[in-house]
Amino acid sequence: MFNFKHEWVETNVGVMLVLVMLAISVGGLVEITPLFFIKNTVEPVKGVYPYTPLELRGRDIYQANGCFYCHSQMIRPFRDEALRYGHYSLAAESQYDHPFLWGSERQGPDLARVGGKYSNEWMVQHLISPRSVVPESIMPAFPFLEQPLAYNDIEQRMEALRDAGVPYALTPAENARNIKQFGPKIAEELYIPDAKKNLIAQARAGDYDGHPGQITQMDALVAYLQVLGTMVDFSKYPNDQFVQDR
Ligand code: HEC
Repeated sequence: MFNFKHEWVETNVGVMLVLVMLAISVGGLVEITPLFFIKNTVEPVKGVYPYTPLELRGRDIYQANGCFYCHSQMIRPFRDEALRYGHYSLAAESQYDHPFLWGSERQGPDLARVGGKYSNEWMVQHLISPRSVVPESIMPAFPFLEQPLAYNDIEQRMEALRDAGVPYALTPAENARNIKQFGPKIAEELYIPDAKKNLIAQARAGDYDGHPGQITQMDALVAYLQVLGTMVDFSKYPNDQFVQDR
C-alpha cells in the first residue's frame, strides 16, 4: 500500500512538486519565523549595559586595528573552552554590539572574558611590545596607540548606535528610562549630551595608560579590554554542565 503511493508520488511530477514545496515551506518557516521575534529570543541578562563613551572609542580602535582578525570574542559551550576562558558567551552579552566582534579565527586567545585578567600596566606593556612580556608571542606591536585619542565626534557615534537600537539617551525622558533600567550611575554614562565630559572623567580616573595628563587611544582600548566579560556576575549562572568531570 505504502510502496504503491510512493511510486505514484515519484512518477507524478505535479504531485511531487507540490509535496517538495510543502516540505521546503515547513522547513523554511521553522527556521525563519523565530528570527522575526529575535528581540524576544535574546534572553535578557542582568548586568549587561551599553559601553561607556570611553569604552566605545576603545571598541572602535579594536576594530580599526584589526584585533578581531586574530582574536575571537565568542566562547563556545564546550568543556575545553569553558575550562580555559570561563563561562560560555551569552547572546545578551553582545546585544549592544554593532557590528558583533565575534571574529572567526584564533591566532591569539579568545578575549571575551579578558577583562580583569591582567593589570592595566600589563595590557599597555603587552600592546606596546608583546614579546617583552610573552617572549614566544607572534602578536604585532601597537606602540602608536599612545597617540592622542580623537573624541570630538563621540556624540555622533553614540547617536548612530542609538539609531541601531542601543539605548543611549538623547533626551531627559530617555535618560529617565535608563535610570530605571540600568541605575543612575550607568545611566549617566549613556547620556549623550554628557558624553565628552564622561569620557574625559573615566580616562582621568582610570588612568589606563599610565599618563594621567593625556587621553590616548591606549586609554580607550585598555578601558574596553578591561570591561570585556565583566558585566555579568557569572557566579549566579553556573557553568557546571560543561566544566564538571563526570
Ligand atoms: C597577528 C595576530 C594578532 C593580532 C592582529 C592581535 N593579536 Fe593579540 N594576541 C595574539 C597572540 C598570538 C597572543 C598570545 C601571545 C601573547 O599573549 O602575546 C595574543 C594575546 C593577546 C592578549 C592576551 C590574552 C590573554 O588572555 O592572555 C590580549 C589582551 C591581546 N592579544 C589584545 C590584542 C589587541 C587589543 C589587539 C589589537 C590592537 C591584538 N591583540 C591584535 C595575536 C594577535
